[in-house]
Amino acid sequence: MKKNKQLPLDQKYELYEGSVQNFEVDIEFINKEFKKTYGKKPLILREDFGGTAAMACSWTTQSDAHQAWGIDLDPEPMAYGRKVHYEKLNDDQKSRMNYVQGNVLDRYQFSPDVIVAFNFSYFIFKKRQQLLDYFKAVRKALPEQGAFFVDIFGGTDCNQELEEKTKYDNHTYYWDCDSYNPLNNEVQYYIHFKVGGVKYKKVFSYDWRMWTVREVVEIMEEAGFKTVTTYWEEDDDDDGGNGEFYRSTVEENCDSWVTYVVGWV
Ligand SMILES: C[S@@+](CC[C@H](N)C(=O)[O-])C[C@H]1O[C@@H](n2cnc3c(N)ncnc32)[C@H](O)[C@@H]1O
Repeated sequence: MKKNKQLPLDQKYELYEGSVQNFEVDIEFINKEFKKTYGKKPLILREDFGGTAAMACSWTTQSDAHQAWGIDLDPEPMAYGRKVHYEKLNDDQKSRMNYVQGNVLDRYQFSPDVIVAFNFSYFIFKKRQQLLDYFKAVRKALPEQGAFFVDIFGGTDCNQELEEKTKYDNHTYYWDCDSYNPLNNEVQYYIHFKVGGVKYKKVFSYDWRMWTVREVVEIMEEAGFKTVTTYWEEDDDDDGGNGEFYRSTVEENCDSWVTYVVGWV
């Protein structure tokens, strides 16, 4: 079998973050929505499936009262995150940032205001019971005025094999749905990159179940969240989203969308 060309580790995560992450927008959204619900700022963040924990590092720069934890099983992205994101923090910010190599299903000693599971990472739980167990663990870890933020994607394009290509200044990013099983909603996604004319295939691989918003809402409710809020992105003038999300329960489907679901304790 032909082996795929390997990217150097640092470049692998740099390209990943440059293509898929927008944590500044996520942090602004969390702050705005949390304030709207509880009338105060969230100070302590737990970033589940944190990978490089870029978002958690950035969280600590908001004030000297902000603390963050990034939890991931894999030491490889965490090592990159420590070298690139953690090292940019000053000593005080570093003292409020914690990398945890661990399982999101485990219990931890700290009590965060907000837990996030972004970039659809909870899609690794394919059975309803597994997702329920995870949501219950999150619910247990939150205090009375706590919140759980997840993102989710869908749309008519998402239930089929399709490769999307996005060009950036120095590389091309491919989001490739290699297989979609209509009988159980299981999907196999890959991320490929092209840099300097060379295509690096299957740099990241995601063996997931495509959950629907309704399933996520119902499982959060079953896990004990008092209220679950669904959001939708405002349109811009060019038939796309403008990065602003509002609370909503009825919308028209489109080819492809990404949105948030939030569980309030
Ligand atoms: C799609 S990546 C997401 C990285 C990051 N959250 C982001 O937004 O780019 C999924 C990450 O989840 C981690 N992971 C998978 N199962 C986990 C578990 N049970 N506990 C903690 N981390 C897990 C993987 O190691 C991987 O780094």
